[in-house]
Amino acid sequence: MSNPAIKTSLNNDVAIYPLKPHGHPLMGVASPSREEIRAKLLTDKIRHISMADIDALPILNAMSHMAFQARNLARASQIFEAMLRDQQCGIFLCLAGSLISTGLKQIIVEMIDNNMIDCICSTGANIVDQDFFEALGFSHYRGHIDIDDNLLREASIDRIYDTFIDEEELRICDDTIRQITDSLPPKPYSSREFIKHMGQYLVKQNKGQDSIVRKAFEKDIPIFVPAFSDCSAGFGLVHHQFENRGKPMVTLDSARDFLEITEVKLAAGESGIYMIGGGVPKNFVQDTVVAAEVLGKEVNMHKYAVQVTVADVRDGALSSSTLQEACSWGKVSMTYEQMVYCEASLAVPLISAYGLQSGAAKGRQARRFAKLFKD
Ligand SMILES: NC(=O)c1ccc[n+]([C@@H]2O[C@H](COP(=O)([O-])OP(=O)(O)OC[C@H]3O[C@@H](n4cnc5c(N)ncnc54)[C@H](O)[C@@H]3O)[C@@H](O)[C@H]2O)c1
Repeated sequence: MSNPAIKTSLNNDVAIYPLKPHGHPLMGVASPSREEIRAKLLTDKIRHISMADIDALPILNAMSHMAFQARNLARASQIFEAMLRDQQCGIFLCLAGSLISTGLKQIIVEMIDNNMIDCICSTGANIVDQDFFEALGFSHYRGHIDIDDNLLREASIDRIYDTFIDEEELRICDDTIRQITDSLPPKPYSSREFIKHMGQYLVKQNKGQDSIVRKAFEKDIPIFVPAFSDCSAGFGLVHHQFENRGKPMVTLDSARDFLEITEVKLAAGESGIYMIGGGVPKNFVQDTVVAAEVLGKEVNMHKYAVQVTVADVRDGALSSSTLQEACSWGKVSMTYEQMVYCEASLAVPLISAYGLQSGAAKGRQARRFAKLFKD
């Protein structure tokens, strides 16, 4: 006998379906066709959570009197509030992991709308495969972890944990990057400059009004993706370079990325970092302090730092390294820093909504760091 879905106080469309055996929509369908698989699995879109869905102050107040990660989460939120209230402080947002596909896009867009961040440093997947992809009109779908991945392969559906993506649409995203690349004068670009052209493309095409790439472009917030080829953008760039071998072509200059983001740190003066996940973006932004010193400039360490991560400190890797450890390298001041060991989809809506709902962002001036660059 099959188990029925259980209705709860949440909307009926998110009722609890039995996970095992095979609670997914292909349950009981014998040898489904490719079209059947796609029709049944690519239907239930990920909806992005908004700060308006959250009443952050009471929950974080309560958590501040608890222990473990609840208390760390509350302290991280207070540090985010402090960086927002500090009128001298430029705020860097670092993104790693699959954050946009998870439903966190709107939170980041709302931070842009409310002048809560001044510079973004991200992995390529968040900016290209996920945000720009949705800006083109495509969606991520609520998926299932107990599905047969061979069936997904046959139906051109990609899986990120419990999220599905239509690979045919992802190919269109890759090809759109190729088209943008082909349209640019052949020369080296920083990822920031290239992503600015992606923003311009969306404006011209009248697409992606609610996307990070377009919003950041319109508010002069530079976006850096130091490993730009390691995502959907890479396929478009590979195609462009293959077709233009032996001729002038578009290339990416990651050293220029480092120089430019260091220039942002120099212009920011005091700085704070809101790190979601770890990886390359975490190190790249932290290293701007050291790079400025190498250039003979006097800069303060990052004054405020918050990191949300699931990384385990025992591996000794950068993603897991504590912010105290970063102090030994001269990157992050130890006074206002907090690690939160929590998966981002849980912690980020709360920290971000607290930042806004505390009133700390009211009257905060947009720093418009993209204007530092004259291209
Ligand atoms: N994630 C994807 O779906 C995807 C897709 C295509 C390409 N890529 C590329 O792979 C490279 C690595 O990207 P990545 O996304 O795997 O990040 P990553 O492996 O660089 O993440 C670094 C660390 O961030 C932390 N982290 C990641 N997700 C988290 C979460 N939800 N909550 C808390 N902490 C989290 C983990 O500690 C992880 O070790 C990038 O260049 C990216 O462009 C990723």
